[in-house]
Amino acid sequence: MDVQTTRKQLFANQLKVLKRNFSATDTASFLPIYLQALMVGEKISFNLYLKVSTNEQEGITFLPFLEAEEVLETSWVEILERLGIDRFYFRRRDLELALAYLNNHLLLFDLQRGNPPKEKFLVIVEHLNFSLYRAFNSPQMGSHINLAKNQVERLVQMLQRDIQSLKLVWELLYRNYSLYNHSLNVCLLGIALMLFMHNSRQESLILGVACLFHDIGLTRVPEDLLYQSEPLEEDDWETMKKHPLVGYQMLKECDVLPSEVLQLVQEHHENADGSGYPQGLPLSKQHPWTRIVRLVDEFDSLTGHRPGKKSIAPFAALKSLQKQAGMPVQNFDLRTMNNFIRFLAIP
Ligand SMILES: [Fe+2]
Ligand SMILES: [Fe+2]
Repeated sequence: MDVQTTRKQLFANQLKVLKRNFSATDTASFLPIYLQALMVGEKISFNLYLKVSTNEQEGITFLPFLEAEEVLETSWVEILERLGIDRFYFRRRDLELALAYLNNHLLLFDLQRGNPPKEKFLVIVEHLNFSLYRAFNSPQMGSHINLAKNQVERLVQMLQRDIQSLKLVWELLYRNYSLYNHSLNVCLLGIALMLFMHNSRQESLILGVACLFHDIGLTRVPEDLLYQSEPLEEDDWETMKKHPLVGYQMLKECDVLPSEVLQLVQEHHENADGSGYPQGLPLSKQHPWTRIVRLVDEFDSLTGHRPGKKSIAPFAALKSLQKQAGMPVQNFDLRTMNNFIRFLAIP
């Protein structure tokens, strides 16, 4: 069926459109996107489909509703809303296009004034969902990451409940896209490792939020400092070392996050032997999960792609981390390190 026929049949009420809850970890070849996250009266850069029942043994099919580069007409959206249809679907292979589109949408929001904030935050949630979906499926993450699936969906729901926490997501996304991606990776790895180490789901959720925002303080550091390939000057290094405290302050002002999250963010560069910053706390004085954030953060920093820095393979990264978990240097806790090695070895 072509787009014209689908539209004609839909508007004549001849289609049985299916409605289903969004899942960030949907494995089908189509992913849902909310109507409200799309710009009405503007071109859409990827094909949109409707999920329709075929009536044959409860079969499902995806019918093309809009072709890439077509304008999403206001009158269509009005009809769709009247029919109670709140989402379209797009092909998984168009994920990058959809992310770029939502990014663009967010940037436009930022230029215009007086938009209803609810709409903007819906776009952020969609962006977050798709970014997490992409991170889940990146080859670097490996299969062990599946442990985190349900928890990540709950984490997004939790953030969605409060606009203040979504503002922080926006801060990361808008100010620094590679930092946003790093934060999502650390969040996924952190949750999965927590569950692997038999912590409760609620605990893994708190750790996930802390991991998501661990580097939020870096959004206040000038970008040329962040991605300098040469060693930093003394003054610049001092500025850089303040980011855990700056992050702590930002989260405190936000006033909706659990106190553990604040503490973990403040401590995420503390080493096991007390040689870290900003406070130089030994393991016994740190929050018991600080060692987990510290390790997965470093692992993603080594293996991830960031401007001005070469990434290394997971195995080499693990070797390098292992050297820093014994004597004389002890940046990482040995027990957490051993668990992490076993965790990465899950087939
Ligand atoms: Fe950091
Ligand atoms: Fe980090």
